Amino acid sequence: MMHIRKKKTVVVGVVLLALLAFLVWRLIRPMDIFVVSKAFERPVSTAVTPASLPSLSATGCAACHPAFYREWSTSIHSQAWTDPYFQKDWRFDGQQQICKNCHIPLDRQQENKVVGFKDKGKWHPILAPNPAFDRELQHEGVTCAACHLRDGKILGPYASKSAPHPVEKIANTNEICFKCHVVSGKRWDTFYRIPPCGTVAEIRNTPGANRSTPPVAANGTAGSEIFRPGDAALNCVQCHMPLVERPLVVGGKVRMVRRHLWRGGHDPAMVKQGLDAVLREAPAPSPGQRSFTLTLTNTGAAHYLPTGTPDRYLSASIRLVDRNGAVLREDHHTLRRSIMWRPFIVDLRDTRLPRWQPRVFRFDVDSSRYPTAVAVEAQVRYHLVDEARRKRIGYENKEPIAYEVFHARIALDREKTN
Ligand code: HEC
Ligand code: HEC
Ligand code: HEC
Ligand code: HEC
Ligand code: HEC
Repeated sequence: MMHIRKKKTVVVGVVLLALLAFLVWRLIRPMDIFVVSKAFERPVSTAVTPASLPSLSATGCAACHPAFYREWSTSIHSQAWTDPYFQKDWRFDGQQQICKNCHIPLDRQQENKVVGFKDKGKWHPILAPNPAFDRELQHEGVTCAACHLRDGKILGPYASKSAPHPVEKIANTNEICFKCHVVSGKRWDTFYRIPPCGTVAEIRNTPGANRSTPPVAANGTAGSEIFRPGDAALNCVQCHMPLVERPLVVGGKVRMVRRHLWRGGHDPAMVKQGLDAVLREAPAPSPGQRSFTLTLTNTGAAHYLPTGTPDRYLSASIRLVDRNGAVLREDHHTLRRSIMWRPFIVDLRDTRLPRWQPRVFRFDVDSSRYPTAVAVEAQVRYHLVDEARRKRIGYENKEPIAYEVFHARIALDREKTN
């Protein structure tokens, strides 16, 4: 009898220890928050380049396409490598190779060639020195050729006959975005409701998300594991590359082209364009009380607002202030995606704004309790990254990491309530 009980204790002990070891491993292992897919497991090959192009660099393209170059230079794509926030984050995360395939996607932009993989998940490539490595090209981040060069041809919408380089017509130009703006999060140990950086899934999950944007021919030339037929109609280009009439090259035929701007979270004007915010007084709930509502609606982005990396969030505050601007009472709300990262990845809550779905925050004021109050104010701010995360990775920002996108004030007319 004694013998069996001892054996049982040993078994239970071993199981508990194994469980503990498993948990500890889950807490310290690299997180690998997305699944590496065919679309970006390797860099873009530049083995074949158009013979007529002396250089693959953006400055090379600029010789003939100066307007496109000027716009691209102001975009975050051109800073996808030099971006100080990216650099800090990349170093903090152990300088993983996989990050390069979207932030510096051409093989010549990378010091090493990917010749194979050590693991099934493809997070650990086998590397060999890359003799074609070009540091200047590296600093161009998501450069022209990253989007336009495939198999020695330049992808474009026109099938132009007058280009000096070979051209291949691409029926739906939204497909160019999918390579880097779609990641899957499906793995045995992840419980995402929406994939990480789930811009595309957010559009799919919002019925009618695209109803006010110009329709595009959805021929769905998709096929790889992360695209579905019809995804081509996601309209990324329609919103992020506004139309303008101009020639492709100096003195060339004037066409309807798309500006190369790609504004997003780094641009207050773009975020404001997506957000409709209204502060108004609501009917008084009871005598002596006044009630105010702040209504936030995503009217301009087909995906959620904010979207992209789960770092992004909105904050909204409604305050009661006195004549000197001192805050007497304040309600603070955050609209963000909350994810538990360890020991398992679990989507906890998502309070961001899907398109067309108004969010109302109510603010009741008991006039007698705050005799010195003179106004109700509302402020909405966009945050690129949390202050705590900024500190943790040691990112000393020069540009602000948060900015105001809405401010309103309603004066309390005292006569009315007394
Ligand atoms: C992030 C991807 C991306 C980058 C980087 C990029 N382009 Fe484009 N480009 C596109 C897309 C998408 C289109 C097609 C737009 C459309 O539907 O007409 C396009 C179209 C063009 C066109 C044809 C005119 C037009 O608007 O249709 C030219 C010329 C062009 N790009 C040149 C450049 C040059 C030069 C650079 C670098 C300075 C560059 N592109 C960088 C995605 C990109
Ligand atoms: C020597 C001049 C020259 C250089 C260098 C050059 N292009 Fe072009 N490109 C042209 C001309 C000319 C056209 C055709 C204009 C037209 O049809 O209106 C063109 C057309 C294009 C188009 C539209 C193709 C289509 O039919 O839809 C794209 C996209 C493009 N170029 C991208 C690039 C990129 C990216 C680079 C650099 C890697 C580059 N070009 C370098 C001259 C040049
Ligand atoms: C080769 C990879 C790649 C492709 C293709 C690509 N992007 Fe990006 N995009 C990036 C990366 C990387 C960033 C983030 C750069 C950074 O902030 O460091 C980014 C950032 C953005 C942003 C955010 C700007 C901001 O202010 O934060 C927008 C909007 C955007 N891309 C739109 C597009 C659209 C639309 C397309 C298709 C025409 C596209 N991208 C194609 C890699 C890509
Ligand atoms: C109806 C217009 C519209 C469409 C369609 C649209 N966007 Fe946006 N996008 C916006 C607006 C407005 C913002 C700024 C507010 C925000 O961040 O949600 C934005 C922001 C972004 C950002 C910035 C995120 C960041 O981290 O700063 C990215 C990336 C982006 N969009 C990618 C895409 C991609 C990829 C598609 C296509 C699958 C797409 N968008 C379709 C309007 C649109
Ligand atoms: C599949 C393509 C892809 C891969 C792989 C990738 N990124 Fe990105 N990254 C993007 C895109 C697209 C954006 C901008 C849009 C958004 O917010 O989703 C971005 C934005 C960022 C930003 C925000 C930059 C800013 O200025 O706000 C950071 C930081 C970043 N990535 C770090 C990393 C790190 C570190 C890795 C590797 C662990 C990595 N990325 C791997 C595509 C990628």
